[in-house]
Parts: sequence; structure tokens; C-alpha cells
Amino acid sequence: MRRPLVCGNWKMNMTCAKSVNLVNELLETLDRGVLADVVVAPPFTALRSVSTLLEYEKATIALAAQNVHWKVRGAFTGEVSPEMLTDLNVAYAIVGHSERRHVFGETDEMINKRLLGARAASIVPILCVGETLADRDAGRTQDVVRGQLFDALDEVESISGEELVIAYEPVWAIGTGRAAHPEEANDVIRHLRALVGSRYTPEAARTTRILYGGSVTPGNALDIFREPDVDGALVGGASLDPAQFSAIVAAAANA
Ligand code: PGA
Repeated sequence: MRRPLVCGNWKMNMTCAKSVNLVNELLETLDRGVLADVVVAPPFTALRSVSTLLEYEKATIALAAQNVHWKVRGAFTGEVSPEMLTDLNVAYAIVGHSERRHVFGETDEMINKRLLGARAASIVPILCVGETLADRDAGRTQDVVRGQLFDALDEVESISGEELVIAYEPVWAIGTGRAAHPEEANDVIRHLRALVGSRYTPEAARTTRILYGGSVTPGNALDIFREPDVDGALVGGASLDPAQFSAIVAAAANA
């Protein structure tokens, strides 16, 4: 049985003080005994404060970074290294988010390096893959996600279920209010799971958590999580509202 995982991706929102408020509200609204892994990805500037708060509260919420560089240190203005993140108890790093790919031009090669850098520091990558509307209309969804997955996993010789999280995020569903139909999301996620199995082992396919992301709300979460291959969600907009995010986490645990 794969344990559900819900990650809130705050994107470029929340000052430090607002981040701390949001986590405090989350700690009040989240059911502590909930049977799901809960992760938040604040902006880099708030990681330190949120990390300290989570430690102080002995909270079970884990911390993710929204990106990670592959080198330990060096002349890379504007980047943040895996070592800087582990120093703040960051356990996960989102890599290959569609906004990084499409707004900032990150290539599959760069995403592969980021993923390798995270793994080398024992940070679990949350690897995002997903097709654009044009890809989808042209019937290329499965090919696109296969290419993104295998390029990102270049030089990764083996994986176990604890070492990687994949998020299927159709670009046309992100921030649009138009989530994928649960069955459509499940079809792509089943395909991704089979690809993990073909490249690694049946055990890796069985244990790797694959999330759905794109306009997840408390209203559609349960239907999405009831699909057999969907193991949770990467949540953008709704993760900025503690009540909505907690409701999505509860749906993941109860699906
Ligand atoms: P959204 O974002 O939930 O606001 O659609 C999801 C994401 O970008 O991870």
C-alpha cells in the first residue's frame, strides 16, 4: 500500500511572516493523526522560518524546496544548493515544474542534473512531468511524459519507493480551474507507473508514489484520489488556504 502524499506548492507567494502564519493555521486545521504525508514548499526566503517552526512544534509536516541546483556550491548566482537545503531540514525538492520548463526555459538535461543533485544529498525529488494543450490535442501526451520521465532519470540506475516522487501535471490544468478528468489523470499515471516498472523493477513501480497536480480543490480531490494509481496531489492555489489544503489532505487519507 502506498501512503498518500499531498504537497502544497506555494510558488512565489507568501512573505516570511505570512508563511509562518499559514503553517500555524495549518497546524490547527490539519488532523495530526492523518494517514497521509503532508509536505509544504514555501518560497526559499521562508524556508528557514518555516523549518524552525516545524521543528519547534514537532510537526509531521515535511519541507520541500521549489527547486534545487546540482552543485554543492560555486559561482551560480541566484541558485540554491542541495547542501543549503539539507541544512534547513528540507526533505523534498520539486524539479521540472512546468513553470520552470515553460516560463524559465529549463531543459530536460537541466532537470536531470537537478534531480541527480537532489538525490546525491538524499533530498527526494518531486519530479513534475506533463503535456501542453497542443501536445494533448495532437495525441502526444504519453510520448511527452515518457520523454520527460526518462530524460530526467538519465543515469539513475535504480530507485526505491522512498527515493522519488513523480507528479503528473498537465500544463493546461495548472492554475486554470480546469482539472484533468480523474480517469484521464489515472490513465497517464498508470502509464508512468508502467514506465517506471519497465525501466527499473516491478517493485519500484509498485512503491513509487505518483501524484496528480493541476487545479486540485476540496471539491474534486476525492474523485481524483479514488483512482487506483493516483497517490496524492501537488497543490498550488488551494494550498495557500489552510482550510482548503487540510480538506485535500483529509480526502487523500480517506480515499
Ligand atoms: P494549481 O497548481 O493547483 O494552482 O493548479 C498546481 C501546481 O502548479 O503544482
